[in-house]
Amino acid sequence: MDTTQLPTKVRSLMPEIREELERLIRIPSVSFPGFDAENVRRSAETTRQILEASGMQTQILEVEGAHPAVLGRIPGPEGAPTVLLYAHHDVQPEGPLELWKSSPYEPEERDGRLFGRGSSDDKAGIVMHTAAVRAWEGRPPVGVTVFVEGEEESSSEHLPQFLEQYRDLLRADAVILADSGNWRTGEPALTVSLRGIVALFVEVRTLDHAVHSGEYGGAIPDALITLCRALASLHDDRGNVAVPGLVTRPSDDLDLTEDELRRWAGVRPGVELIGEGSLTERMWTKPAISVLGIDAPKTQEASNQLVPFARAKVSMRIPPGQDPQEARQALTKHLEASVPWGAEVKIIAEGTGAPYALHADGPAYDAMRRAFAESFGRDAVNMGAGGSIPFLAAFAQTFPDAALLLTGAADPMSNAHSEDESVDVADLEKSCLAEALFLGYLAATATLESNRRTEA
Ligand code: BES
Ligand code: MN
Repeated sequence: MDTTQLPTKVRSLMPEIREELERLIRIPSVSFPGFDAENVRRSAETTRQILEASGMQTQILEVEGAHPAVLGRIPGPEGAPTVLLYAHHDVQPEGPLELWKSSPYEPEERDGRLFGRGSSDDKAGIVMHTAAVRAWEGRPPVGVTVFVEGEEESSSEHLPQFLEQYRDLLRADAVILADSGNWRTGEPALTVSLRGIVALFVEVRTLDHAVHSGEYGGAIPDALITLCRALASLHDDRGNVAVPGLVTRPSDDLDLTEDELRRWAGVRPGVELIGEGSLTERMWTKPAISVLGIDAPKTQEASNQLVPFARAKVSMRIPPGQDPQEARQALTKHLEASVPWGAEVKIIAEGTGAPYALHADGPAYDAMRRAFAESFGRDAVNMGAGGSIPFLAAFAQTFPDAALLLTGAADPMSNAHSEDESVDVADLEKSCLAEALFLGYLAATATLESNRRTEA
């Protein structure tokens, strides 16, 4: 097997790979608290079987209190480098079923895309790895370790423990984290920067108990209006984040236009984009704040009362270079100072996720760029990501000498975390091929280097 045979080989493997992806999509492996953890265990077991069937030695990895992770290993030829392939087998909740065109856990292909929860985020990542291994008929030219986590969507809480406990099994010279995506459908990318995340709850109380809104309204502030004022202070009139003291960085604009972004996201006509600076800056290297939810009476049940208490979940994305603790402090301070009329305010912090900028060069990056160029027929762009992968910093800390590469089969149409999540079927094949080629090109680089060393 050499790299020239890989395109045909991967093409012939796609029906099996597709089958495996569909098997995984059928398991509702939501890792959030309150969802049946047994499903996450089932997806771990199915992942293990798929890795085993690809010729790997497998085991389920457990850490106290964590959803199970899966490990697969194939030793490489003597002296060859080892590559660690990461993905996650847990998914986000499906949300309201009536918004889905087809059932989230029953895969369906429409217009060249395969729909279902986890089709792109991140069950596609799992099958990219098995495809790469199978393409080499279970005898890759480098050592391969596949590590598939089961709780990325609930913040990878135990990932540092997994890395610590299984450090010797996971050690690698290069790591492919298949949990990002392509720049556009058919246009490959290496993700070189990720935002971090800070989330908190803000609670406002103005009254011991609800009172008649006609009787007291006008003299007494309700908690919901009071909370809204504080939330409104988070942006200026142009939609820039108004919390002082946060880091912002420049970013490569690439070729993104406002029109295209509006189409990708489904922004309604007439709705203005917010913030200043280039579009990529706003999404990748500047802070962004959203209100994710509010606990308050539902309108249907709302009665003529002054609401005594309200609570919001506020999420802030932070760019590389921003310390998460400092960001959280800045946001907390700003919110506390912005709640008007002397209302009681309480901030409850959630965990933070660190931002990360990757060192996007060296032999592993050269090998991956070559693989992308061949597989997609065009060069990969270096892109940023607005989303967060908090464990990247943990990987970098545990394996400081390993090259980290962030890829994935998703694209801007994938609708990750939302209804009608999908993956482009043609891009999935190209992503599988790119990963298979990468293993070959990396092995060739390593051989070159060791030859050079012997000659010297
Ligand atoms: N795959 C995403 C992260 C991502 C999104 C990378 C977009 C590149 C582009 C990942 O599964 C995810 O959603 N992460 C969470 C992290 C959170 C649970 C701490 C996120 O960003 O909300
Ligand atoms: Mn993901």
